[in-house]
Amino acid sequence: MTESHIGTVYLVGAGPGDPNLLTVKAQRLLMECDALVYDSLVPKELLDLVVDSCECKFVGKRRGHHSLPQKKINSILVEMARRHSCVVRLKGGDPFLFGRGAEEAAYLDSHGISVEVVPGITAGIAVPAYVGIPVTHRLAGSSITFVTGHEEKDKRRPIVNWRALAKASDGLVIYMGVHNLEYIVDELVAGGLNPSTSAAIIQQGTVVGQRFIKAPLKQLVKEVDNLEFISPSIILIGEVVDFQTQACSPEPANVTMPI
Ligand SMILES: C[S@@+](CC[C@H](N)C(=O)[O-])C[C@H]1O[C@@H](n2cnc3c(N)ncnc32)[C@H](O)[C@@H]1O
Repeated sequence: MTESHIGTVYLVGAGPGDPNLLTVKAQRLLMECDALVYDSLVPKELLDLVVDSCECKFVGKRRGHHSLPQKKINSILVEMARRHSCVVRLKGGDPFLFGRGAEEAAYLDSHGISVEVVPGITAGIAVPAYVGIPVTHRLAGSSITFVTGHEEKDKRRPIVNWRALAKASDGLVIYMGVHNLEYIVDELVAGGLNPSTSAAIIQQGTVVGQRFIKAPLKQLVKEVDNLEFISPSIILIGEVVDFQTQACSPEPANVTMPI
């Protein structure tokens, strides 16, 4: 393929695990693409949608192993786009939410490669919904903050100001927060959040193996530790947790997610 025939890279959201949460556009692209570059937290059922001739490359992190450096992933995408007309870059949840989608888009654009984002259903909304928790409620939560509990040391902006968040948002949806939970809770309480505020954690939501507990904020750390909650988990803090209604929660999908 010559430079003038460089392909398009689609940054596609895979949703949070249950394959039924894939968008129609994402499904079509998976069935049409001739190259697929995918992450962890993507169920095998989605990979099965591609045609036999599709060149597939895993670039995610497997437990106990390091993920590929972002620079390496960027060059793989460029190289794939030079050989294929339709490249799907499949990411868990939504590609622009804690997914480095914007970094990849900028890199591809700077190399003259056309790139299009296909939003996906983010774990922060779908995972609570699978246990019947709404992330907002007219009576309890008019604001919700999506926040990462894991920040890289070399990040060129201030770390999360948990103390300020304690007062600034009715609800918090924390991604990647399990390992830093004790610190996060201490900071929130120091910032004025009532230690008896309702909280919940959901591990591996939307698929078999889903685990869930609710506890007041001050007890959550101990419970998470005792019950050995691990990644991937979503932590929810705020009064919305009290509005859980299991009547509407779907069955987790009977699929296995490589995590
Ligand atoms: C790197 S972030 C990617 C988020 C993704 N882009 C999204 O929009 O959902 C990965 C984190 O998302 C959360 N997550 C993703 N899938 C999940 C699931 N099925 N159950 C619980 N948490 C999940 C966890 O906090 C996990 O550590």
